Amino acid sequence: MKQKIRLKKKILITAGPTYEAIDPVRFIGNHSTGKMGFAIAEELAQRGAQVTLVAGPVQLTTSHPNITRIDVTSAQEMCDVCLKQFPKMDGAILSAAVADFTPVTKYDKKIKEKQSLTIELKPNPDIAQELGKRKKTKQFLVGFALETNNEFTNAQGKLEKKNFDFIVLNSLADKGAGFGYDTNKVSIIERNGTVTNYELKSKQDVAKDIADQIEKLN
Ligand code: C5P
Repeated sequence: MKQKIRLKKKILITAGPTYEAIDPVRFIGNHSTGKMGFAIAEELAQRGAQVTLVAGPVQLTTSHPNITRIDVTSAQEMCDVCLKQFPKMDGAILSAAVADFTPVTKYDKKIKEKQSLTIELKPNPDIAQELGKRKKTKQFLVGFALETNNEFTNAQGKLEKKNFDFIVLNSLADKGAGFGYDTNKVSIIERNGTVTNYELKSKQDVAKDIADQIEKLN
């Protein structure tokens, strides 16, 4: 089927986890596979958008010529790339599972075995909030929330705090949704409080729902 070229926008997407180095062999990470962000990148590229995909360490490949991929490892690296790219963009979709904390000390040599080890952590930059502060009227910002409790209240709080136009909520409580699965079950919460609940579907089909919602913005 021939795709309609209708989304003439430059869109930044973050995807995957970040790895925060402890020493040359160890890191703090998380279970994100990047599948949701990569599916969104592919869908938007097929609709004609020029996508800049900032990817943490993932096992995924991209093939669409409209996707420019920038690989990063840590949250700070992801943040630096996003701050540089965002002013050139019409909007951003932040699907990365960014590590909230990073070790204060990154050892140059592998830490030796010992009885106990204390690792002091400091907070990472909140990329979404930084972009939210810089967002111009014509730009859009979309975020994700993965919640285990008080999901709607927490997601709505994040929508406002980070200045998102809408937030995609997925609950870890839903079977087949979240890390590693090829399916996802989401709700989209808009700024005006409208909530749309979607069925469990493939991440490719969830990406279509998110792309439809982006096309409705401005
Ligand atoms: O981690 P949290 O639930 O607050 O994440 C909500 C949204 O903020 C997600 O879209 C995530 O990609 C983004 N985020 C970010 N930088 C962080 C933490 C979260 O961009 N340091």
